[in-house]
Amino acid sequence: MAANPKIDELRNKRAQSHAGGGEERIKRQHDAGRNTARERLDILLDPGSFRELDAFVVHRATDFGMENNKFLGDSVVTGWGTIDGRLVYVFSQDFTVMGGSLSEVHAEKIVKVMEMALKTGAPVIGLNDSGGARIQEGVASLGGYADIFLRNTMSSGVIPQLSVIMGPCAGGAVYSPALTDFIFMVKDTSYMFVTGPDVVKSVTHEEVTFEELGGASIHASKSGVCHMVGENETETLLLIRELLSYIPQNNMEDPPFVPTNDDPLRTDTSLDTIIPDNPNKPYDMKAIITTVVDDGHFFEIHEHFATNIIVGFARLGGHSVGIVANQPAVLAGVLDIDASEKAGRFIRFCDAFNIPVVTFVDVPGFMPGTVQEHGGIIRAGAKLLYAYCECTVPKITVITRKAYGGAYDVMSSKHIRGDLNLAWPTAEIAVMGPDGAVNIIYRRELAEAEDPVAKKAELVAEYREKFATPYVAASRGYIDDIIEPRDTRPRLINALEAFQNKRDTNPPKKHGNIPL
Ligand code: HXC
Repeated sequence: MAANPKIDELRNKRAQSHAGGGEERIKRQHDAGRNTARERLDILLDPGSFRELDAFVVHRATDFGMENNKFLGDSVVTGWGTIDGRLVYVFSQDFTVMGGSLSEVHAEKIVKVMEMALKTGAPVIGLNDSGGARIQEGVASLGGYADIFLRNTMSSGVIPQLSVIMGPCAGGAVYSPALTDFIFMVKDTSYMFVTGPDVVKSVTHEEVTFEELGGASIHASKSGVCHMVGENETETLLLIRELLSYIPQNNMEDPPFVPTNDDPLRTDTSLDTIIPDNPNKPYDMKAIITTVVDDGHFFEIHEHFATNIIVGFARLGGHSVGIVANQPAVLAGVLDIDASEKAGRFIRFCDAFNIPVVTFVDVPGFMPGTVQEHGGIIRAGAKLLYAYCECTVPKITVITRKAYGGAYDVMSSKHIRGDLNLAWPTAEIAVMGPDGAVNIIYRRELAEAEDPVAKKAELVAEYREKFATPYVAASRGYIDDIIEPRDTRPRLINALEAFQNKRDTNPPKKHGNIPL
């Protein structure tokens, strides 16, 4: 058969588009320990599933010599593919073309996949590697970002939006991810900042490295901007694949059910002795979580940020759940500003996407002190409270030890529509801990006592016996049942199944006014 020159032309153009910014820039990208935009999609998506869109788009700029500086597809690769057979829309910024900077057409390509994703109810995954707004295009580029921000906001709570930061990302390249549900970063090779080290130096005279300013470890532990860090690009992209396995395609669907060989009736006697005799002694709440969930597998989010609270996904009897748990091993599990914001946002994600929330409680209260008060613990704590109150997915609570004060109310209590509230016999539910309570209500008796130390010990023991138990709460129905710790897994799975068809709504409104 004679060769068809039109097909040859198409093949040529496609090859040009695949060449990105050219061999030299691809080599630079590889030398920096990074994959190209297309190599990343190959790792992320099921083999052979990627369908590209807009491979022949070119930018429209004419100034600054841009007329002769065009690349087919411009600086982003877009399209759809599948992950474990489920449809996802993707964009992958190409740093080899003008630093992955966002031109007007780059923005249009991203907006196109975002709109398709919203119409078809499928997640959007953005692989970000970009120097932000393309300087040569001025306001056309800024407008392109605003177009993306608007779609990010409209899609929020309708389809999951996941961001991976895979290079030095600046300006708009960090604000779009910030509007999405989860941000993943790659250790040592990815950075996020509003303005890079050069600008910082000229404005504030501060000398700071890329890593110190916006590396993965800073954002995963200090700012909390990043939810999860992979050791390298491949691991990070595989983590995204795993995250998707816990979440539905959109807000109208339920998360996937994943059958397990882990017996739903499995009990574990180690839980009966996990709470130390001394109520002030810490223990690791993660040990309880991994003992209870399917196959001991807990997909932790924000592992290194606000470690006094734990959040993440797991499965119970094959059902996907979001877990929120105080961590008595860190700051006694106290609620502070970061912990409240971390858990509040996680709960809102679960609520938006029909993922039941299981809460393990061991909390001595909110963190006292000027640092927290002046930093706005009142506002931050209210975010967590608001998130639990408005949440209508099944909410199951297990109090393992302390549930003191306002923190008792906040942590998915019966009063704020907890569906099933369980307590272990070791639970202590009271306005405050015995020490603090005795100091306040027996101040005069202690001052007048012959032996104040002995008197205090006696009063503390009395208080503890009366109030530091789950029975007062259970006698009022605030706790639905007191269970043996070993039975926690079967009880949780049974409850999830009982509440599977739960329907609950909030009053019609434009939107609430969460204390931001
Ligand atoms: C056009 C850009 C660019 C940009 C980088 N390049 N950023 N081109 N517009 N914004 C180009 C470079 O000229 C270079 O081209 C190539 O990309 C690689 O960049 P390098 O600087 O060589 O790479 P590196 O040393 O790794 O530094 C990466 C970087 C740095 C940290 C991202 O390039 C940088 O600081 N860029 C500017 C970041 C920024 O301030 N962006 C605007 C933000 S304002 P050649 O041809 O040499 O390969 C914004 C507004 C949005 O985004 C609104 C937000 C609300």
